[in-house]
Amino acid sequence: RASILNYMKSKIREIKDWPKTGVTFRDVCPLFEDPRAFRGCIDLLRERYSSYQFDVVAGVEARGFVIGAALAYSLDKGFLPLRKEGKLPGPNLSKTYELEYGSSTLEVQNFSSRKGLRVIVVDDLLAKGGTLQAACLLIESCGGIVVEASVLVELSSLQGRKILQDRGWEVFSLLKYD
Ligand code: PRP
Ligand code: HPA
Repeated sequence: RASILNYMKSKIREIKDWPKTGVTFRDVCPLFEDPRAFRGCIDLLRERYSSYQFDVVAGVEARGFVIGAALAYSLDKGFLPLRKEGKLPGPNLSKTYELEYGSSTLEVQNFSSRKGLRVIVVDDLLAKGGTLQAACLLIESCGGIVVEASVLVELSSLQGRKILQDRGWEVFSLLKYD
């Protein structure tokens, strides 16, 4: 397990001052491109969630779709997309949030009740936590229950975990950076 995690970490690129000065961007796309690293990511998440009681994986656009869809398929669950504003035919629920580099809006389709639906929310990376907070709020707004928010990479020093846990959502990450 340590060796696959180290291998996965070796595939994540670090780009200084992108997309803005002062931000060090962790690029997970090379991990997705590498079959061993991508399989490692999905297999480790599948192992964790195979013992959880849940109904659907919700993935955050865009890189949360890559992980979330593969995880949902591997556990024989459905996939619910949380998309950036203006992409989904409605009716939708929307939530605007702040990022390290600007602001953004996420939406979920809301044309039937999801009351009591148990959801694992997936994204590639947790930075300041605004994105996953918006995602979890959307799930609750449409009647769902957030079982856990799950990411490939956590940027620990930005303390996104605290924002989520303070609101009562469980957080899991495979890889951490300070
Ligand atoms: C990145 C990343 C997360 C989010 C994390 O996506 O994929 O979704 O930022 O930041 P936070 O914890 O501070 O909210 P981004 O919004 O850049 O969009 P993209 O997927 O379209 O690149
Ligand atoms: N990588 C990807 N997405 C991000 C990052 C990062 O380092 N920081 C905030 N969102």
